[in-house]
Amino acid sequence: MILVTGATGVLGNGVIENLLKTTPANKIAALVRDESKAANLKEKGVNIRVGSYQDKDALATAMKGINRVLLISSSDFNDRIGQHKNVIDAAKDAEVKHIFYTSVSIEDMDNSPIKPLLGDHFETENYIKGSGLTYTFLRNNLYQEVVPMFVGENVLETGIFFPSGEGKVAFVSRADLAEATAIILTGKGYDNKIIALTGSQAYSYAEIAKELSKFSEKEVAFTSPEPSVFSETLKGFGLPAHIVQMSSLFAAGIKNKDFETTSNDLENLLGREPKKLTNFLREVYGK
Ligand SMILES: NC(=O)c1ccc[n+]([C@@H]2O[C@H](COP(=O)([O-])OP(=O)(O)OC[C@H]3O[C@@H](n4cnc5c(N)ncnc54)[C@H](OP(=O)(O)O)[C@@H]3O)[C@@H](O)[C@H]2O)c1
Repeated sequence: MILVTGATGVLGNGVIENLLKTTPANKIAALVRDESKAANLKEKGVNIRVGSYQDKDALATAMKGINRVLLISSSDFNDRIGQHKNVIDAAKDAEVKHIFYTSVSIEDMDNSPIKPLLGDHFETENYIKGSGLTYTFLRNNLYQEVVPMFVGENVLETGIFFPSGEGKVAFVSRADLAEATAIILTGKGYDNKIIALTGSQAYSYAEIAKELSKFSEKEVAFTSPEPSVFSETLKGFGLPAHIVQMSSLFAAGIKNKDFETTSNDLENLLGREPKKLTNFLREVYGK
C-alpha cells in the first residue's frame, strides 16, 4: 500500500487523484491532520490515517501495512527537519520499502542565499540516505502558482517590484507535478534516484512582465530594487516580518540563479509538454 502524506494539501490531493486512475483505492492511504478535510478521499475509498508529523505514535500507526511512502515536505517551518525525521523514523521502524521525498530543485544549496529557509530539504535527503531506506528524491522547482504571491494581484496596474535581477526560474505547474509524482510512485527504475521535476524553459521576472504586457496591452514594468529598499517597502505595507523575510530570500535565491535548472524529465514522464508559464499567466491575469 502507498501512503501519501500532506494529503489535504494541493499537491498531495492531486497525487492521490492521479494514483486513483491506475491503483485501487484500497491500496492507497492518506496521512491527514484533520479528517474533516479528507471527506473527498474517504468517499473514494482511500484509507484515511490521522496524524501530524509531530505525533510519533500516530505516525507509527499510520505506517502499518505500508510499503511505499510519499513524504510531502511540511508547510510548517517550525522545526521542519524534526517533523520530517519523525516520518522517516516511523517508516524505517515499520520496514517500509521505499520513501519518496518532495525536495527542491537547487543544485548548490551551500552557496544559496535561500539556505536558511530551504536548506532543511537537503538535510532531509541526507537523513533519508542515512536511514538505509530505498529513496527517490523529487527535486521540484518553484510552482507557477507562486508567481502571483510575488508580483501581486494587481500586477497589471502596479508592475513588478521584486529584487530578482536577471535570475530565471523554470516554474512548474502543481497539476503536472502531481501527475508525474503518481507515475513515479507506481513505476519502476527509480530506486535511489534524484529526479529534477522542473520546467523545460526558465523565465526571468523581466520576461514575465513582458509577457503580461503583451496580452494585457498595458505597459507592465519590471523593477528590481535594492534588497533593503524591497524589504522596507514591504514592511511599510504592514506585511508580517516572516513574509518580508521569505519574499526577500526567494528573490535573492532567484537572483543567484538557483532556480534556473531546466530538465526534460518532467516532459518525458508526462509524455507531453508540461503546462507553459505563459498559459498560466494568461489564465490568471487574462480577461
Ligand atoms: N515548490 C514550490 O514552489 C513550493 C511552494 C509552496 C510549498 N512548497 C512545499 O511543497 C509542499 C507541498 O505543496 P502544497 O502546495 O501541496 O502545499 P499545501 O497545499 O500548503 O499542503 C501542505 C500539506 O502539508 C500538511 N502539513 C503541514 N504541516 C503538517 C504537519 N506538521 N503534519 C502533517 N501534515 C502537515 C498540510 O496539512 P493541513 O491541510 O492540515 O494544513 C497539507 O496537507 C509544501 O508543504 C511545502 O513544503 C513548495
